[in-house]
Amino acid sequence: MLNIIPKPFKALEREGKADARGGYEIFAPEKCKRDTLRFYSYFPEGKGTKLKVNVTLDDSLARESYLLDISDGAISIAAGDAAGYAYALESLRQLHVAGGGLLPCALIEDKPRFSHRGFMLDVGRYFMPLDEVKKFVDFMLMHKLNVFHLHLTEDQGWRVEIKKYPLLTKLGSRRSHTNFGIRPHGGFYTQAQLKELVSYCHERHIAVIPEIDMPGHMQAAIHCYPQLSCFDRKLPVATHWGVKHDILCAGKDFTLQFVCDVLDEIVEIFPDGFVHLGGDEAPKMRWKLCPHCQKRIKDLGLKDENQLQAHFISQVKDHLKLKGVRAMTWNEDEISGKAPVDVTWTIWNVTEKELHKMYAEMERGREVVNCSSVPNYLDLTYNKCPLKAVYTQPVDICKPHPLMKGAEASLWTEQVPNIRRAHFKTFPRLGAFAEAVWTPDLMRNYDEFLARMPAYIRLLKANGVKKVTSVKRANPGKVFGFFEQLWFEKVQLCWHGLHNLIDDAKVAKLAKKRLDKNE
Ligand code: ACM
Ligand code: ZN
Repeated sequence: MLNIIPKPFKALEREGKADARGGYEIFAPEKCKRDTLRFYSYFPEGKGTKLKVNVTLDDSLARESYLLDISDGAISIAAGDAAGYAYALESLRQLHVAGGGLLPCALIEDKPRFSHRGFMLDVGRYFMPLDEVKKFVDFMLMHKLNVFHLHLTEDQGWRVEIKKYPLLTKLGSRRSHTNFGIRPHGGFYTQAQLKELVSYCHERHIAVIPEIDMPGHMQAAIHCYPQLSCFDRKLPVATHWGVKHDILCAGKDFTLQFVCDVLDEIVEIFPDGFVHLGGDEAPKMRWKLCPHCQKRIKDLGLKDENQLQAHFISQVKDHLKLKGVRAMTWNEDEISGKAPVDVTWTIWNVTEKELHKMYAEMERGREVVNCSSVPNYLDLTYNKCPLKAVYTQPVDICKPHPLMKGAEASLWTEQVPNIRRAHFKTFPRLGAFAEAVWTPDLMRNYDEFLARMPAYIRLLKANGVKKVTSVKRANPGKVFGFFEQLWFEKVQLCWHGLHNLIDDAKVAKLAKKRLDKNE
């Protein structure tokens, strides 16, 4: 058994050990320089002979793939591209840490199962300092993940500087208090910082997909520019979580203008060709009462508010397309029956029956990424998403399809107010997820994965993970799991249900008054 997570596609272990306690001397093409220097930085200069590593790039090999040959005198690496080389080094690093510098001799032939191996981080609920975000990027490379989905805007905070609308960060990045306390919370990234983050990701062979969630999850923006909402409401940046009913008004021209202006700046920061437009959890209470939205529905001959959302997203998608950028949305866009097929769906809330509908969507030509909340929402309890379920999931839903691009593990942060909590939620589930998207089903074995856990946990701790959940805690029993879930649901439900109820009554009264005045 080789202590590598995710488990390589093929590995042949041989007799003997290679001694790397004196460090490495790497001979690699110029193209690989950055990856080589990063590898050197993992290990301080040792005493004794250095182990020689010969590297070739071979474009007859598949992208992201590599061959790693460890014999007792030397190492050779052949990789399909620089990403494949970086992954070979990550495997080598794991073997080095597990063996204290003594490497098992082996021939490893490795390649990924899926092309989209993602990690989503919600920095909207809780702002995360840039250095901590970068550490997550390092962990992504360690796990051979290659798509960083950055959820940048939320009801509880707007995190990206937009030069045309400065209030978004001046006012919209801060909430007066949180679920967890009476102190204010806030923060945002300048465009320069985000460009630096994108370069940091690219150096680690990771593409970045920014998400600007619309038309829902926009209360922070509405706080700054109340005319974005149906009733020009002056609302605070949301303090608690839950689905908010005040969303962007899809009946006003200003809304589309605003969104397109914001995206024009976003695509300049994030050059990887995709922007995620959200589209999730957008209740239509306001649109049903709003004269602007109702007029738009009538003028366009639409059936209902869901079709208005599809129309809105479609306009935004076309705007991106003019710039050569593709759109993604969460799969709620399906509700209208009108969602454009050239929008990639990150599916999150599907029942088993609906999974088959997703397969039908792929047959229609839609690309799909599996982000199913169970088991891939890392913020959910270990009761709901135990380690074993993350590991054993069938990533491609029903059966393989070329348009099933892969999967994402998502760390939402409603209940993740600090880094320690973020790490507690993420690890070791991220290891199980990484193996599910990298290693073919037939080669995975949960018990054997558990045997690799001690070395994995040591590796994480040596690399600054503040809290790794134990395997026992990550697969809680029925009783513990019940109480863990009860606590989670209590925090979730007690506030926002009541709040929305009271607020809806207020808006209904406002709408009636406007109607009476014929406004
Ligand atoms: C989501 O969890 N609302 C995408
Ligand atoms: Zn409206």
